[in-house]
Amino acid sequence: MKQTIEIESHSRIVIGDAVQVLPALLPDKRIIVITDSNVDRLHHSLFAKYDHIIIGLGEQSKNLATVERLYAALMEKSVERNCFLLGIGGGIVTDITGFVASTYMRGVEFGFISTTLLGEVDASVGGKNGVNVGGYKNMVGTITQPRFVVCDPHLLTTLSDREFRAGLAEVVKSAIIADPTLFSLLEESSFEALRRDEELLGRIIAATLRVKTSIVEADEREGGLRRVLNLGHTPAHAIEKCCRSHNHGEAVAIGLCMVAEAAAKAGIMASEEAARVRALLLRLGFDIELPAPLPDLLKAMRKDKKRNGGAIHLIIPEAIGKVRDMELPYEDMDSFFTSNEHQH
Ligand SMILES: NC(=O)c1ccc[n+]([C@@H]2O[C@H](COP(=O)([O-])OP(=O)(O)OC[C@H]3O[C@@H](n4cnc5c(N)ncnc54)[C@H](O)[C@@H]3O)[C@@H](O)[C@H]2O)c1
Ligand SMILES: [Zn+2]
Repeated sequence: MKQTIEIESHSRIVIGDAVQVLPALLPDKRIIVITDSNVDRLHHSLFAKYDHIIIGLGEQSKNLATVERLYAALMEKSVERNCFLLGIGGGIVTDITGFVASTYMRGVEFGFISTTLLGEVDASVGGKNGVNVGGYKNMVGTITQPRFVVCDPHLLTTLSDREFRAGLAEVVKSAIIADPTLFSLLEESSFEALRRDEELLGRIIAATLRVKTSIVEADEREGGLRRVLNLGHTPAHAIEKCCRSHNHGEAVAIGLCMVAEAAAKAGIMASEEAARVRALLLRLGFDIELPAPLPDLLKAMRKDKKRNGGAIHLIIPEAIGKVRDMELPYEDMDSFFTSNEHQH
């Protein structure tokens, strides 16, 4: 990507060539890189000159044991308070780095180079960090903003199609929440074009991040507004719980379709708009068939942490670019999510 795009927010977000922009972003401190073995294998040259620590892969590494191992490694290297931790990787690396940095010696400065699409458009910005405890996701963490986040579309060329597509689900989500222009841009584009064209991808990442940062800026601590970022996520979490076969993005794509179609059936969203949501997700290569029986998914949804007494909180699209927060009583969930086809 030739041009650099900057987004004003709590952190400095720079979309551009990481090698080029990094020197000006790093403070004059001792730099310690935290990364994972895949990123180390594929993009070692990015950080070869810095001291680095490599963590394990996957959700099973996102735990307090890894955090403790990192504290020990930092102490072993005599890393003091006046250091800078640079997380280079996907959401797992940035969530752990942010947590370790905000707690090591009561907090040290940190920044990220995000290397997955999901990380670039979602996980690396917003300041939330943390780890899983006892098998529950993100149970322990802080909200602390990194000094900077670098999103380099070129680093995504080594990502598998499946991981790349998972990130696209969050892009579509953000477009439905607040950016109809981004939605149209995606409709005119294709999966192949997004994989190939770094300039286009850079613009799409920037637009997606603007949706997230404007919401997070207004509501850092999730007083209410930040909840709109959960569009499609209540059904997605249920799918992830019921079907290990689906990654987060794949589940989000189905969740987006479910809420759009339910909103259309309830007369909240025009049915042509819901049809555009489905068509775009199909065009991007998502499989949007329900991977488990609806009653099983509804049961899992009732257990979602976003529930509120005898009702669940649900973000529903009113149009492409506009959403609303609604409370859906347990007893109405069946009829809300059952499509007309299923009723016949
Ligand atoms: N903090 C937040 O606000 C927030 C938001 C959304 C998600 N998350 C968290 O993000 C995590 C998921 O992030 P993720 O999907 O990036 O997962 P991840 O970090 O596990 O990355 C996915 C896979 O891609 C590999 N990889 C990373 N960069 C690569 C590259 N350039 N080329 C090839 N392979 C590469 C990784 O090694 C890993 O195997 C979850 O734990 C989730 O809870 C956090
Ligand atoms: Zn998500």
